[in-house]
Amino acid sequence: MNPSKPTTAIWRSLLSLLFFVFIVTQLFGQSQTNKRAQWFVDARFGMFIHWGIYSGAEGVWKGEKLRHDNNYAEWIFYRNSIEKTEYLSLLDRFDWDAIDPEEWVLLAKKSGMKYVTLTAKHHDGFALWDSQVSDYDVADHTLPRRDIVGELAAACQKHGLKLGLYYSHWVDWEHPYGWDHSKEIYPIAAGQYDQYWQEKVMPQMRELLTNYGPVGMIWFDMWINHSESIVSKAQLLQLKSLIRELQPDCLVNSRLGLSMEEDSDIDFRTLGDNQLGSTKLDYPWQSPGTVAHSWGFHQLDTEWKSTSGLLHALIGNVSLNGNYMLNIGPRADGKVPYEISQRMLEMGQWLEVNGESIYNSEAFDLPENQHDWGKMTCKSTSDGYKIYLHVYNWPFNQKLPLTGISTPPDKAWVLSDKLQSPLAVKHQDVYTEISLPARQPDPLISVVVLEYATKPAVRQGLVAKTVDGGFSLKPGNLISEEGDRELISAKHRGTVPPYALIKKSYQASWKLFIDEPGHYQVDASYSFQGTQPTGQIQVTAANASARQTLAPTGLTVGEPNSDWHIPNFVSHRLGTIYFPEAGEYPISLQVEAGQNTPVQFQWLWLKK
Ligand code: GLC
Repeated sequence: MNPSKPTTAIWRSLLSLLFFVFIVTQLFGQSQTNKRAQWFVDARFGMFIHWGIYSGAEGVWKGEKLRHDNNYAEWIFYRNSIEKTEYLSLLDRFDWDAIDPEEWVLLAKKSGMKYVTLTAKHHDGFALWDSQVSDYDVADHTLPRRDIVGELAAACQKHGLKLGLYYSHWVDWEHPYGWDHSKEIYPIAAGQYDQYWQEKVMPQMRELLTNYGPVGMIWFDMWINHSESIVSKAQLLQLKSLIRELQPDCLVNSRLGLSMEEDSDIDFRTLGDNQLGSTKLDYPWQSPGTVAHSWGFHQLDTEWKSTSGLLHALIGNVSLNGNYMLNIGPRADGKVPYEISQRMLEMGQWLEVNGESIYNSEAFDLPENQHDWGKMTCKSTSDGYKIYLHVYNWPFNQKLPLTGISTPPDKAWVLSDKLQSPLAVKHQDVYTEISLPARQPDPLISVVVLEYATKPAVRQGLVAKTVDGGFSLKPGNLISEEGDRELISAKHRGTVPPYALIKKSYQASWKLFIDEPGHYQVDASYSFQGTQPTGQIQVTAANASARQTLAPTGLTVGEPNSDWHIPNFVSHRLGTIYFPEAGEYPISLQVEAGQNTPVQFQWLWLKK
């Protein structure tokens, strides 16, 4: 007998099990998340802190507002051409006894945020820690010497939040060879820039990664690719390998200047400022966001976003596998303006009740904008699978339509209901309808939980039933098409809706699940600028057709006295189609434009 044989067999089955687990995890959600970034993906929500010398100016210098309508108050040194010693005099406004970074961490925690990212060094080059590199740091301008990074790191440790550090590597307005945009006109040599890099960036980064315990992420801020800048790829790689060497678990964002496509070792992608996600991504990503516009506090910046708007941003991102990092700009006494803290605390209260739909959750397998009532997130749990329906539009008839899931849920309830009182559910094939309470329970956004034993099966390609019971068939949700068409996006501030321009002949088809059989009215919205009725539009489903000759729709006025004489998009009743029984139906559209005048097709609408 060969004693090694059974062990080999065990190893083999263990290996194939591991391989299976690997494959299965690859299939779900964010398969491109490396182990390092798992906490970040699970956390979903974090705090950004912009605070530095500029916080003393609050967007105004010598009576003049910051010279940019984006109101980025942290840019005042550069924008308003301030002289360096004068800029430093802003520190006289700081109330060092009142400043306590622990308060920021406590606010983050109460707001349901899992990490905090501080501008350790912003573009002005001023270090918020005791840096040995130069005396352009907070320690050398305070008595007793303060180390804001150190205090924040300690508070994060104490309260169990991850620490992130923003470090402006590319732009530095203090070092003579650091980058400021005017160097596009008055260039410096690559060697000079490297001097800045080697004598400021590298040693400062070493300090940050050595003296403050575990750093969850370094958040770089180069919003163009290195190839368009003075920074060389070699410098970026040098910086990244220092991070990997000193803190192998620390995350690095794509604003290092290297995209995730160029370097798969980048941990997550940062979108543009206040840019929310629009599509699902299978690698970690994040939107940095503000409550008004500015990052550093700006006293004239008053366009505060609403709490529900901020929650929509968070939920929307999570429904696409994204993160949201929302900014505070504390004032020179360290206090967070009421308009910011109030909204964050409200988000925290919402998360206290509804957080399980956000943390450790991810995008569900149906298209992101399939349902008009809101967004979906989901997660595997120890005893099954949950889908969370974030209901932005509470249906008037209290029936929430869900199209595309072919397994009935075992249970449905409103997440805020501690008793988990079951909601009535009707399920037919791929259609689930949940009976909701008459009033939406949460004044902001209510969440319905659907519970399944395992991940439910989905059917792709169906047009979802809308909250008011109809079906909206558009170029964006069709399954196949033939013929020439050009997709035109909305114009004149949306008074001209998006449409498909059809010059000759065009065919498109969709798939519907009809849960209520019967007669459905078929409407088509289009603009036709011909002078005579001509051509044809026809819809076919369930062995029946509804058709019409194209009718001229003329123009309309979008805005008075602005020459916005825009094509008129009119809804035309084509007829009625009878769906004899519940089930899935293909439905097709045929358009013949006729005689040299194109048709601008917008949508079909089917309603019982
Ligand atoms: C931009 C700005 C900067 C701000 C950052 C936040 O890159 O230059 O001031 O810190 O966006 O995302």
